[in-house]
Parts: sequence; C-alpha cells; structure tokens
Amino acid sequence: MKFGILTSGGDCAGLNAVIRSIGLYLLRNAKNAEIVGIPDGYGGLIRGESYPLRKEDFEGILAYGGTILHTSRQPFKKMTVPEEGGTRLSRMVANYKKMGLDCLFTLGGAGTHKTAAMLSMEGCNVIGVPKTIDNDIYGTDVTFGFRTAVEVVTEAFDRIATTAASHSRIMLVEVMGNKAGWLTLQSGIAAGAHMILIPEIPFSLDAVCDFLSARLAAGERSTMVAVAEGALLDSEAKFKKEQRAFVRTALGESTVTRHLAEVIGERTGAETRYSVLGYLQRGGTPCAYDRLLCSRLGGYAAKLAVEGRFGVTAAVSGNSITFNALADIAGKYKFVDPQGEEVCFARSIGISFGDRA
Ligand code: F6P
Repeated sequence: MKFGILTSGGDCAGLNAVIRSIGLYLLRNAKNAEIVGIPDGYGGLIRGESYPLRKEDFEGILAYGGTILHTSRQPFKKMTVPEEGGTRLSRMVANYKKMGLDCLFTLGGAGTHKTAAMLSMEGCNVIGVPKTIDNDIYGTDVTFGFRTAVEVVTEAFDRIATTAASHSRIMLVEVMGNKAGWLTLQSGIAAGAHMILIPEIPFSLDAVCDFLSARLAAGERSTMVAVAEGALLDSEAKFKKEQRAFVRTALGESTVTRHLAEVIGERTGAETRYSVLGYLQRGGTPCAYDRLLCSRLGGYAAKLAVEGRFGVTAAVSGNSITFNALADIAGKYKFVDPQGEEVCFARSIGISFGDRA
C-alpha cells in the first residue's frame, strides 16, 4: 500500500512525533508499505509533489519542533474556486490518484479537517490527526500541541509576573487563539492570572477597569491579565468577524491588547504594559505529554489505515484514543463554554472575565 502524509495549517509542537509514529507503525504492520511525504500541506498536493520517506527519516525527530514536511495555509473557501487547471480540490484529487496513494494522512486543525472531509467525499482515502495549539477541534477532548503551548505560555506568564510585581504594574499578556480561548483560559488559570479575556466571553471596558481599580484600591500592587488574540469588546460582539477585522485593520490593529492597555492606563492611573507572546507559543520541542499523545495518535491513525477505515480522524476521549467520521466533525468547532466548569471554577476563586457576571 502507498501512504501519503501531509501537515497543514499553523504548525505546533508534536507534528514530527506524529509523523514518526505513523511511519514506524506502517513499516512494522503494513505489507510492503511505501510512504511518501507531501510538502507544504495541501500546497504540495495541489502541485502534485511528493518524496519518499524511509525509516531513517523517522529517526531522531520525536522531539523536534515544527514539521519536517513543512506546512502552508490553504483556505478552505478557495478550494472550490475555478482557477487555471481546475479547482484546487480537483487538482488534489487528480494528484492523489496520479501519485497512486491508497491513503492520505492529514495532520491539521479545523480548516484542514474541512478540506480532508471534502477530499474524502471525492473518493480519496483520508485519515486526519487533530493538531492545534488552539484546542478547538470538535469531537476530541484535546488536540496535540495544545499542552505544550499551555506549558510555554504558563512559563512566559510566570516570568512576566515577576517584572510586573517589581514595577507594580498592570500587565496584559496576549495569547494566541482567534476563535477559541482554551489556551488563554488554561494557561491563565495555571499561571494565576487575575483576569482572563477570551473570545467566548466579550468584555466590557467598564467592568475591566472597575475590577482593576478595585484591586488597586485594595492595595494590590500588580495585576496579570491574560488576553486572547481574539478577545473582543461587548460592543464588537454583535458584528461578524469580517466586519470586526475591517474596523481593526483600519485602526492598524488586529487585536485589542494595545488599545486596551492604553485605556486601562488612562482610566486607572496605573502603569500598564502589554506583551504579545506570538510565535514562541507554536515553536520548539513538545512536552512529554504531547510526545506521548502524538505517538499514540500517530500509531492509532496508522492502525486505522491498515484496517481500511477511512474518512475518519483520530480523537481523544478521556484516556482513550478513538476516531470520529470526518463528515461528523468537519466545520464544527469546540469553544469554551462560558457556563462550563472551568469558567465557573475560575470565577469562584475571584478570576474576572471582564464582564458583569
Ligand atoms: O495555529 C493556530 C494559530 O496559532 C492561531 O492561534 C493564530 O491566530 C494563528 O494560528 C496565527 O496564524 P499565522 O501563522 O497564519 O499567523
């Protein structure tokens, strides 16, 4: 059997660990396994590029950050737009056949899974593996790469907290996560943030400033605020994402953090600074939890392939690895539940979400 592997969308720690595990499983358990890597995610498949992966390619990559196959973003909505040479989707299907693939592993996030579901509907044998630091893929308790990012953000927070304490400042720390606030929520709680702003709970400027002023009045010298990249004002919440993006682009900002820090400084009178963590959240070596999870997910996905179960994606349920049909999860997201246990617990110990609850 001939197997293709691609990694698509924003990278994260653990992609190579999954690639390795898929490879090792197939080389041991599939008859005459031929494995190829497809470079740059769906980009390589659109162009029809692949190259052989051998045992030695899987050696020594378990702990490497990034992806040895490289990645790119290929927006789902462009897949069916007619272009010279056909749509991207039709070119991918044609190249899948031309390469003689019996199965394609797609390691990626929610967008990758939507395209994977479409490829599957077009007759390609696809198996997904759920990757993203955003942890927002529907149907899996956790995605690989997430826990490493939580570790990295928590450590960054701890470091920023000491300088905030020295200078008696309010410090805003911007964390990745455009649609979903999982990374901000979990690392914020883990690092002892006093306020957590996430896309799922739009914040009020008044509520934010009142909370911070009350802390100052109570003699608290410093305050740590975790701000998700996608955090939004309650006044913005009624607008669609595109409209919000339009206004923010016009203001030269894609996130609220800088503006919010300015307003907080003016209204509270406290020295306020902000720090955008950026890509360090996605780079580097996976933590032990992710190395184990990636190894299990990769081996499991490869097992599904050997058993001939296609049109599915591996998933985590409790302590077990399982799978979902791509058709059931594609296009759906897993968001933080504003009424859920984690948020309620955080509120119960005094963490503010910048709202009036
Ligand atoms: O991979 C997910 C993610 O890290 C989001 O949290 C973030 O909004 C986005 O990627 C940034 O992507 P890019 O690499 O395209 O700037």
